[in-house]
Amino acid sequence: MNIQENISLKPFNTFSLDKKARFFTSVNSREQLIEALIWARNLGIEVFILGGGSNILLTQDINSLVIKIEISGIEIIKEDADSIWVKVGAGENWHNFVLHAIDNKWAGIENLSLIPGTVGASPMQNIGAYGVEIKDVFHSLRALNRATLEQEEFNAEECKFGYRESVFKNELKGKFIITSVTFKLNKRPDFKLDYGAIKEVLAGENHSNLSLRAVSNAVIKIRQSKLPDPKEIGNAGSFFKNPTISKDLWLKLKDSFPGIPGYDITEGIKVPAAWLIEQSGWKGKRFGEIGVHENQPLVIVNFGHADGFEVKLLSEKIQKSVSEKFGIQLIPEVNFI
Ligand code: FAD
Ligand code: EPU
Repeated sequence: MNIQENISLKPFNTFSLDKKARFFTSVNSREQLIEALIWARNLGIEVFILGGGSNILLTQDINSLVIKIEISGIEIIKEDADSIWVKVGAGENWHNFVLHAIDNKWAGIENLSLIPGTVGASPMQNIGAYGVEIKDVFHSLRALNRATLEQEEFNAEECKFGYRESVFKNELKGKFIITSVTFKLNKRPDFKLDYGAIKEVLAGENHSNLSLRAVSNAVIKIRQSKLPDPKEIGNAGSFFKNPTISKDLWLKLKDSFPGIPGYDITEGIKVPAAWLIEQSGWKGKRFGEIGVHENQPLVIVNFGHADGFEVKLLSEKIQKSVSEKFGIQLIPEVNFI
């Protein structure tokens, strides 16, 4: 086990924030993970689990052992005429797995192309995009119980998936480390093309001949046109979740703000946070090293040398102004550390 001390986490978070880890190690097997956990336990040191660092905001140095999950492997565990069950190591890169599925004609995750991060983190917030969430293709996961060091299995129901939510962000927060995820993918595609932008990009394609690759390429094209590439400008994707409000409140707001968008869902009306933030005057605003992205105001960016604590302060100012103008409380999607 190679434990490094006082290392910068800048290369390990997509916000490119230069905070330090007191101790840092990478693990590529469950045995190595247990070894690292025991090492920390014996010294009375806290542990922080890191995947691709694409959904965290480092507001301070981490005075713990940071364990980067690099457990690899993609294994077919079962198949029938319609489906294929694939078990994937938690450290596999999510987008590489999507491309691997497309190469093998396994359908179901093509709309989730180009989401950064690891497979192991994908159930944490039930990643989603363009009308698909991983809960739609999720079969089960294996996770190490941090207290007992025993492996436990969770099915979809036990994961309590919701919009950018799971049991691992709530009741079981910090209690389990996901080591593998098993997906049930389809042998025949069932294309989800309802998202307006996908339809537009694919206009002109013969839909009876549509391929997984074509849908993936369309999603990639849309994402690249909207979202900043963390390799060029630090960010963690959508900073806030899209809020759901009651139909009554939405209708009331519509009197004062006739342009307010809203999408009917079972729980009420989902309002795009990007619109609320833009209307509150934040879109494209820069404050030294940090700012609100010029194309997608739901994304806070680091122009190079930002401090994570300043990002937190900016996010609080945005929350306050949206709350004052619309009476809606934005909730961060990003995990504050
Ligand atoms: P990290 O940021 O490393 O970790 C996130 C949290 O999960 C932390 O609390 C960490 O402790 C915990 N964690 C990580 N791995 C494990 C594990 N194996 N076991 C237990 N806990 C773990 N998300 C979407 O849902 N849809 C999108 O369209 C989307 N677009 C994005 C676009 C950009 C440009 C960026 C930068 C981010 C985007 N995201 C999106 C957010 C992000 O990609 C996802 O949340 C992703 O799943 C995070 O994976 P990660 O490995 O980087 O997790
Ligand atoms: N909008 C504006 N101004 C803008 C941009 C957008 O008002 O400058 C409004 C428009 O009304 C637009 C709406 O916001 O129709 C939605 O915008 P977009 O399609 O870009 O999606 P989003 O709601 O901002 C969500 C997810 C993304 C996911 C996309 C595609 C959340 C918090 N974000 O973004 O996920 O990729 O839809 O499905 O749900 C992430 O979670 O990190 C993430 C990037």
